[in-house]
Amino acid sequence: MSISTTKDLYLHELGDLYDAENRFLEAQQEMLPHATDSDLKSGIQKHIEETQGHIESLEKVFAALGAKPKRETCAAAEGIVAEGQKNLKETEVPALLDILIGGTAARIEHYEIVSYRGLVAGAQQMGAEDIELLLKQNLQQEEATAQRIEANTPMLIKKALRGDA
Ligand SMILES: [Fe+2]
Repeated sequence: MSISTTKDLYLHELGDLYDAENRFLEAQQEMLPHATDSDLKSGIQKHIEETQGHIESLEKVFAALGAKPKRETCAAAEGIVAEGQKNLKETEVPALLDILIGGTAARIEHYEIVSYRGLVAGAQQMGAEDIELLLKQNLQQEEATAQRIEANTPMLIKKALRGDA
């Protein structure tokens, strides 16, 4: 896509995040059966459902801009997902695998958070309140998910350390 207006740029950024959300949905579905910690597992399960809602919200944003949903290949998301897939093969120790999965999940959320913040700022400047609201709802769920994952990490590390002993 060639970008020559601010709207082109906005649609490009939106398409990038739309692609990332789709890739992250698949990545979470792939990681879920490998997770063993119950909080990690339920957190991923919950966020898979939320992610499906995020994709639908992004489709509404495209519609509000009079555009069809279009994925722009997100190389950053591709990279995070590839790293996560590699991690799944790196260890057979469940407690260590849980830490790696949590790390991938946290990286996913932080990429999404910064992307949503940029799009929210754009919607605010364009005075598009409907779009701003849709994006802010997604952003808040991503922030809450990131917080939950990071709060759970010390416990995952404790479990792994106990296993080392
Ligand atoms: Fe997310």
